Amino acid sequence: MFNQKETDMGLAWVTGAGTGIGSAVSLELVKRGWTVVASSRTESNLNTLAEEAANIGGSIIPLALDVTLRKSVREAVQYIEKEIGPIDLAFLNAGTYVQFGVEELSVEVFQGQFDLNVMGTVNCLQPALEYMRTRRNGHIAIVSSLTAYRGIPFASAYGATKAALTNMCEALKPELDQFGIDLSVIHPGFVKTPLTDQNEFPMPFLIEADDAAHRIVNGLEHRKFEITFPRRFAFLLKLVRCLPYGLYFAITRRLIKG
Ligand SMILES: NC(=O)c1ccc[n+]([C@@H]2O[C@H](COP(=O)([O-])OP(=O)(O)OC[C@H]3O[C@@H](n4cnc5c(N)ncnc54)[C@H](OP(=O)(O)O)[C@@H]3O)[C@@H](O)[C@H]2O)c1
Repeated sequence: MFNQKETDMGLAWVTGAGTGIGSAVSLELVKRGWTVVASSRTESNLNTLAEEAANIGGSIIPLALDVTLRKSVREAVQYIEKEIGPIDLAFLNAGTYVQFGVEELSVEVFQGQFDLNVMGTVNCLQPALEYMRTRRNGHIAIVSSLTAYRGIPFASAYGATKAALTNMCEALKPELDQFGIDLSVIHPGFVKTPLTDQNEFPMPFLIEADDAAHRIVNGLEHRKFEITFPRRFAFLLKLVRCLPYGLYFAITRRLIKG
């Protein structure tokens, strides 16, 4: 069993930890006394992250993993639980965004988005919950997106995956309460990461990954169900969520005209 320091807040498992939000959240957790097991596919990114953590006196344990491979994920969770320690926080963040218009709509792209964003998350959720249910303790955090609120042009697959995650969290929340397991769903706006660096459209209220990580970990510490930011952008989108379809489509038709 990994020797945790007495000051440790606990053990967190972060997926999609190699870059962007996952990497920043891993370091923020370490700064606040957590030990982190960091997973994504590219081992070199995880090793760099572990070095960064060591430089600030913390501990990140790299565990390379493809979340779409169900058997590997199950084995990884077993390994963490048996060899490192009980997972107190599972931060399920691995995901990607593929932008396309209706002319490029393909079954393969949809499948890929669902395999990673939805089934990749469920592949991690299920074995982590098995252990947490037995202990009647733990915290699951799932990274969705503000795009979950309403359909946005050119994000038909991505938005659908994130809406599925948010809906899944709403469905699970009362049941997990009964097991003493906390659940958080995170709805970030635009965050500067390798993912958004590809975007050629304007990204209102764009924030840095460190800033996002700070807001996320604050929300996790307060055991919030919904962690959403930046506040002004989220508020606007929540208002838009209430618009009738006629008005909503009048806005989104403008978006596709550029
Ligand atoms: N950035 C934003 O504005 C924004 C807004 C809302 C929501 N989000 C969500 O936040 C999450 C993180 O996004 P990000 O912006 O930080 O993107 P990112 O920098 O591209 O990070 C994605 C991470 O996921 C990992 N990953 C990809 N496929 C994987 C797989 N099959 N198995 C395991 N890990 C995998 C990547 O590493 P490898 O390629 O090495 O595996 C990478 O570390 C995503 O779920 C995204 O949808 C982002």
